[in-house]
Amino acid sequence: MALNKKSVDDINVKGRRVLVRCDFNVPLKNGEITDETRIVAALPTIKKLIKDGGKVILCSHLGKVKNGPNEGESLAPVAKRLSEKLGKDVKFVDDYNVTGAAATGAVEAMKEGDVVLLQNTRFRGKEETKPEEAGEAFAKELADLADDYVCDAFGSAHRAHASVAVVTKYIKEKGGNNAVGYLMQKEIDFLGNAVENPVRPFVAILGGAKVADKLNVINTLLEKCDTLIIGGGMAYTFLKAKGYEIGNSLLDDSKIDYCKEMMEKAEKSGKKLLLPIDTVCIDEFPNPIDNPSIATTIVDSDKIPSNKEGADIGPKTIELYSEAVKSAKTVVWNGPMGVFENPVLANGTKEVAKALSETEATTIIGGGDSAAAVNQLGFADKMSHISTGGGASLEFLEGKKLPGVYAADDK
Ligand code: 3PG
Ligand code: MG
Repeated sequence: MALNKKSVDDINVKGRRVLVRCDFNVPLKNGEITDETRIVAALPTIKKLIKDGGKVILCSHLGKVKNGPNEGESLAPVAKRLSEKLGKDVKFVDDYNVTGAAATGAVEAMKEGDVVLLQNTRFRGKEETKPEEAGEAFAKELADLADDYVCDAFGSAHRAHASVAVVTKYIKEKGGNNAVGYLMQKEIDFLGNAVENPVRPFVAILGGAKVADKLNVINTLLEKCDTLIIGGGMAYTFLKAKGYEIGNSLLDDSKIDYCKEMMEKAEKSGKKLLLPIDTVCIDEFPNPIDNPSIATTIVDSDKIPSNKEGADIGPKTIELYSEAVKSAKTVVWNGPMGVFENPVLANGTKEVAKALSETEATTIIGGGDSAAAVNQLGFADKMSHISTGGGASLEFLEGKKLPGVYAADDK
């Protein structure tokens, strides 16, 4: 599915002010960036705009920002890391208002090829996240800083926020371009092709805790793929729907019927739907989650004792899933197979990652936990594509139109 949106290759930014929305929502620990993937992923677009002589004004959110602007959610560490990566000064506008005199002044002082980073867009509170609550004003202020707008924030593209989507209206009003960046293009090419035009067999693997989070994606992928593999906490609701007792395992009671429906759908359409055939059980959930002194028992999935809970897929299931991956030509994976944060319960996730790393198939990892798992387990460079978006990649796989993509100009 070719993306028919204007890209950074279609606009001439020489001497022009370009506002670029990135997703610099990186994890921080004590003020240090613990995973720079999203910063690195944004570099190709930024470098291109610098090379073309644009005045590059970057913006992003960081964190959920529930209690108003604060230093812990400042983009200052990102400005620093970005300077190092680009090998040039990135001027950070440390103003909690994001736009305003400081930003305007910094932009006025820019020369061609200069880079400015604005403060965390969510410091504008509801104005950023709820366009209906004066977000229009914030969107216009952002647009006032620039001539053109580029959205390269794939991880945020499912949010119809002021800096992601609403801003395009005001750029357009004054005759500027709204384009997408290289990261956005790459994500959409990989995820879009996998779903719309997969080389078959196409195997989709879904995991994670809750069925409720994945309802639409289960349904959509079941239509597109040849084999759907289910693991993680949500597998137990499927097992329950099959009539098995699942002890104290995670159960989404209200979704049992939905699981039945999906199993029938698979059966009717001749698709394979694979569920765990054995399970690693524990007595209670580890506390802290990574506590390694935890006892496990492995049982067949229809024999989970009433006083235990499933926490990972067992060895027979690993073999079954790995075989399915081996014969695939396209694999999409979203969501861990067990409590992978715990070394004792990470085996299923690790072995599935390993199977993906060994296949010749195109392998696409949805963002969020599965991307973290693949990175943490050291398989990242063996995958064809690791999405920088968690929620965004899921919504894309569901077939939804992402506001951040949709708002860009058509070619
Ligand atoms: C993410 O990490 O999920 C994206 O940056 C979007 O952030 P959000 O889920 O807080 O909107
Ligand atoms: Mg999110």
